Amino acid sequence: MTVSIESVEPTSVDTPAGQARGAAPGAGASAVSADGHADEVLRQHAEHAFAAELAALAAQDDRPRPARWRLSPWAVATYLLGGTLPDGTEITPKYVGPRRIVEVAVTTLATDRALLLLGVPGTAKTWVSEHLAAAVSGDSTLLVQGTAGTPEEAIRYGWNYAQLLAHGPSREALVPSPVMRAMAEGMTVRVEELTRVPADVQDTLITILSEKTLPIPELGQETQAVRGFNLIATANDRDRGVNELSSALRRRFNTVVLPLPESAEAEVDIVARRVDQIGRSLDLPSVPDGVDEIRRVVTVFRELRDGVTADGRTKLKSPSGTLSTAEAISVVTGGLALAAHFGDGVLRASDVAAGVLGAVVRDQAADRVVWQEYLEAVVREREGWKDFYRACREAGA
Ligand SMILES: Nc1ncnc2c1ncn2[C@@H]1O[C@H](COP(=O)(O)OP(=O)(O)OP(=O)(O)O)[C@@H](O)[C@H]1O
Ligand SMILES: [Mg+2]
Repeated sequence: MTVSIESVEPTSVDTPAGQARGAAPGAGASAVSADGHADEVLRQHAEHAFAAELAALAAQDDRPRPARWRLSPWAVATYLLGGTLPDGTEITPKYVGPRRIVEVAVTTLATDRALLLLGVPGTAKTWVSEHLAAAVSGDSTLLVQGTAGTPEEAIRYGWNYAQLLAHGPSREALVPSPVMRAMAEGMTVRVEELTRVPADVQDTLITILSEKTLPIPELGQETQAVRGFNLIATANDRDRGVNELSSALRRRFNTVVLPLPESAEAEVDIVARRVDQIGRSLDLPSVPDGVDEIRRVVTVFRELRDGVTADGRTKLKSPSGTLSTAEAISVVTGGLALAAHFGDGVLRASDVAAGVLGAVVRDQAADRVVWQEYLEAVVREREGWKDFYRACREAGA
């Protein structure tokens, strides 16, 4: 099915018809791809970007599929973790991490419990939820972005006021939320940053998740969830306490915690893969042998994040911002663009130094001190890091 981009914006549910439904601005992905210009889209949805892999999996997947699932749970896990199919098709890993985590997440979606992905920033919660929805339902666009201002309508339904005023409440005047659509069509819906949503709005989900129905009192009707419906929520560890999930709601979820990459090598691997993918989608000339520089960025981020050097010998202060894998990915991508456009085509310390500095030094005063200490005490003394030290000094000047 094609769902236009309006479903991405929770506020659009109560926007007047002319603006909301099928509106031109922002109708980006589906509108453009419908015209056959899918390649022009800046960022494709997972189900489009990996359509070939999903099709190969579906063709060779002979295991039982839960109602309305595009793939069996086994094939969904293979899509996320990567593997080789019987006919030799390579499935690229999307998530790099413990296999069991993915298996538990996928299995949860096949039960009547919803899935809550929890973790510190940049641990791929959003990324995993998008790929799960793409693999299970073939559509990752049924999405509610949770914010402090998320209204109840974003989870239930809104009204097209022109219709409402002209003809009174009716099915035609009702503007379904992504959650309502997912219920009616047996699809996966995603709720991003659930703990940022005000508690009373969160509670709207309780009836939906336990009774599997969404009452519409204005019409004396209800929308009952059909088989295949489920919900994936993400929440940030750091936001915990802002709007803690009520225990009633929490009981409706299976919680899966996504960990930080366990080793530097695993994190280098993740960054290298993602940078390569992003670089290709941005048409950046490929830059070979970037892995040494990626390793240094990852090392710096891990050491500062952990508050201790990799060899465990020197204690460090940590800066205020989170130095997640996601930040390492954007620093390296930025460096790659510099190397490609203004350098000699090789990723060097001078291409990533400014990015590293920008990521570490957020709150100017305190972070700058942390960074200077690290630079002088650790980077300067480290063998083979002279060029990196110099580049960082220049970037900070
Ligand atoms: N273990 C991992 N495997 C694969 N990719 C990863 C992993 N960890 C991080 N990434 C990459 O990091 C990027 C950011 O991830 P994402 O935005 O999903 O993080 P998040 O947990 O939702 O963060 P936030 O809490 O800030 O919303 C993605 O591009 C993703 O590919
Ligand atoms: Mg996220």
